[in-house]
Amino acid sequence: GAPVEVEIGDMVPGEMRTVEWRGKPVWIIRRTAEQMASLATDTNELADPDSLRTGEYPTPQYAQNEWRSYDDHKDFLVVVGICTHLGCSPTPRFATGPQPSLPANWEGGFLCPCHGSTFDMAGRVFKNKPAPDNLEVPPYKYLTATRIIVG
Ligand code: FES
Repeated sequence: GAPVEVEIGDMVPGEMRTVEWRGKPVWIIRRTAEQMASLATDTNELADPDSLRTGEYPTPQYAQNEWRSYDDHKDFLVVVGICTHLGCSPTPRFATGPQPSLPANWEGGFLCPCHGSTFDMAGRVFKNKPAPDNLEVPPYKYLTATRIIVG
C-alpha cells in the first residue's frame, strides 16, 4: 500500500482521527496534558513499558519510550487500531480516573470488547492479558511540524 499523508495541524487536544493504511485503521490521537499524565507508570502493570520487545509488532525506535511517540511531538500518538490478541478493534475509553468493572488503576485508553484487554493512552497493554503486545506503531514521520506520512 501507498504511504498516507495526514494533515494534523488542525487537531485539538483530545481529538482522534482514523486513516486507512494498507487496509488497517491507523489512529492519530492528540493527547491532552491530562491524558499524558494518565500514562501508567507502574511497570509491573505493563507487559512492555518501553516497547523494547521485538515480537510480532516491533516498535520503531522513535517510539520506544513511555509515551510511544517522537520526543518533539510527544502529544501525538499514532497506532494501528487492531488488538494484538486476535485482531478485534479496541474501543477508545478516554475517561480518566477509576473505571467501574475495569482493572484497578487503569486510567483509560483503549478497551478491547472481545476478551477485555486494556491498553493505556500510549497503546501499551495494561495488566489483564490476553493481548500479548502493545498496539502496533506504524512507520511514520513528520514532513513538517503539522503533517505526517504513514508508511
Ligand atoms: Fe482483543 Fe482478544 S482480540 S482481547
